[in-house]
Amino acid sequence: MDFFAYKDDSLMCEESDLTAIAEAVGTPFYCYSERTILRHLRVFQEAFALAPHLICYSVKANSNLAILNLLRHAGSGFDIVSGGELERVKRVGCDPEKVVFSGVGKTEAEIRAALEFGVRMFNVESAPELRRINEIAGEMGKVAPIALRVNPDVDAKTHPYISTGLKRNKFGIPHEQALELYREAAQMPNIRVRGLDCHIGSQLTQVTPFVDALKRVKGLLEEIAALGIEITDLDLGGGLGIPYEENDNPPSPQELAQALLTELGDQAVTVLLEPGRAIVGNAGILVARVEYVKETPDRDFIITDAGMNDLMRPTLYKAYHGVLPVTRHFDRDEVNADVVGPICETGDYFAQDRYVPKFREGELLAVRSAGAYGFVMSGNYNSRPKVAEVLVRGDQYAVARQRETLDQLLNNDVMDPQFNE
Ligand code: LLP
Repeated sequence: MDFFAYKDDSLMCEESDLTAIAEAVGTPFYCYSERTILRHLRVFQEAFALAPHLICYSVKANSNLAILNLLRHAGSGFDIVSGGELERVKRVGCDPEKVVFSGVGKTEAEIRAALEFGVRMFNVESAPELRRINEIAGEMGKVAPIALRVNPDVDAKTHPYISTGLKRNKFGIPHEQALELYREAAQMPNIRVRGLDCHIGSQLTQVTPFVDALKRVKGLLEEIAALGIEITDLDLGGGLGIPYEENDNPPSPQELAQALLTELGDQAVTVLLEPGRAIVGNAGILVARVEYVKETPDRDFIITDAGMNDLMRPTLYKAYHGVLPVTRHFDRDEVNADVVGPICETGDYFAQDRYVPKFREGELLAVRSAGAYGFVMSGNYNSRPKVAEVLVRGDQYAVARQRETLDQLLNNDVMDPQFNE
């Protein structure tokens, strides 16, 4: 469900006309619908309302401060994975009790900053990380709340690059080592065991792998309790998929909640969820302008002013993203085309070998479902400044991130480096 639709023949974001926004801010730009983001958060909150719960939006999916601020005011917590993301949630004034810190490679500086801030818990991914947190907390005279992220060895049945819950993945603590590490954690002077965490992958389109993972960790919960260790937070991670193609039909947050809460039974825990994509994925599009249309005997190439550096998902995961004209014309033909960017790489495309309307030079097109893992994964390849981000509220819009300037792009380079002797 999102709020991008045609009014007459113009594609709108809520009640705002995308053509008018493009005239004002230039192209390319990401455009996000506030109403869609808030709706998705609310659906999660309501779905889990029957149990004590905390939705911790996964900041990595889209970390724009305006979006975090919006979610914070709507009661969301946050799942962070770096010092940079910690700084973002601090800046929007998030309550530390609503922040969990995940990630396999937390540095000493990041651990210190998170302890200083007072995060709800560290989702610990290895024995050496646990020991390091204990040591740093000791030096700081603090006690660090932790969960162990358990790798349940469950197949998430998603793209191998975004599956995280298999033994061969780098994430989490192997299920069979978890109990022993909980025993060790409980004895560490500067560690307080608070939770258990697991996250098995992203863009999951079935409920079964979530339930299988929960079954695996439920057994562990009992064994941990038998050791006299109290777990009050059960973090079940993120990963709920979204529809990218017309016929995709991933489970809804309600279906997920029902399956999980039923499996959980009467365990007295607070359930934490870390959805990212399901909150922002379909709340954003990338708007680009067609620079050229190159017709060849094999196919047409629609060449846009946005490239793979702006949205990497198609080339990185062969991900499908819908492509729509911002102004539609019913009388035009469809052609088999590649929608591509200007970058000097064959993989620079948004759609390949796809029937799309016969676009014309100069017109605008929208790449759909680009709100998650879009801008955040963008880069400067080919010395291309990062694009602007726009947030829409009803019939109003605001720039949520200025387009990067060439000066900003170049300023960190040192043209004439001063070598030491
Ligand atoms: N929690 C943890 C520990 C995670 O690693 C992730 C995502 C999430 C939550 C949020 O997952 P979500 O609800 O968004 O599926 N760049 C890839 C996705 C990478 C996901 C990484 N971890 C893509 O564009 O598909």
